[in-house]
Amino acid sequence: MRCDVLTLFPQLLEAFRRTGVLGRAVESGLVEIAVHDLRDWAGNRWGQVDDEPYGGGAGMVIMAPPVLRAVRAIEAMDPRPARTIVLTPRGRVFDQALAAELAQAPRMVLLCGRYEGFDERVTAILEPEEVSIGDFILGGGEVAAMAVIEAVARLVPGVVGDPASVEEDSFFAGLLDHPSYTRPPEVEGHAVPKVLRSGHHERIRRWRLEEAVRATVARRPDLLERHWNEYTDEVRAIVRRFAPELAARLGRDGR
Ligand code: ADE
Repeated sequence: MRCDVLTLFPQLLEAFRRTGVLGRAVESGLVEIAVHDLRDWAGNRWGQVDDEPYGGGAGMVIMAPPVLRAVRAIEAMDPRPARTIVLTPRGRVFDQALAAELAQAPRMVLLCGRYEGFDERVTAILEPEEVSIGDFILGGGEVAAMAVIEAVARLVPGVVGDPASVEEDSFFAGLLDHPSYTRPPEVEGHAVPKVLRSGHHERIRRWRLEEAVRATVARRPDLLERHWNEYTDEVRAIVRRFAPELAARLGRDGR
């Protein structure tokens, strides 16, 4: 998979693409991350790419012509079709399903805005997808682009060394994580749950699944509604035990 990132702050992506699991994926060629400085496509000597908004108001708007030139040049750098995505709080909210979908694509081109965003004609002309990483406002799209790249890259086969951990993610899809423990066995009077030291794989699997459901019921019941259709019978049965009324409603609605 190839990711192109168009940004006014290419240095923000530098450590990111060289570090950890992603860094290894880049080194081994499983993932390619090309970072492009929007100023390289500025139409003037001093690299100006933003201007004041028509109609007045605070902040600066990134001009359309440099972005159009940049995106066309970047798309032409590789013949494979790209999903071109603007990171913006008005976009479709990013989730694991979208990550899985993007991991199937050979290429993504991610456009990071700053200031008050891009001139609207960027959207009108390029018709990119718009993706948000949540209902809050960042200073720019770079951190959002990194979140998208990290979530997508780990779904590319071979990127996460132990495929069991990606499989486990899908086994627990739509549920919050179960608690994890490591040595020492006791910390300030808090012991590791006995079952985890039993060596009994089936009981451990079952305990983790129950704890994942328990956490989801308590903290994110909205996830149960969204993912009810995807759950296994085993997960639904545990939800019925922990939250009978909610389970009855979800079952009835046939979601
Ligand atoms: N740019 C600014 N805020 C953002 C958000 N929440 N998601 C994606 N891009 C953004």
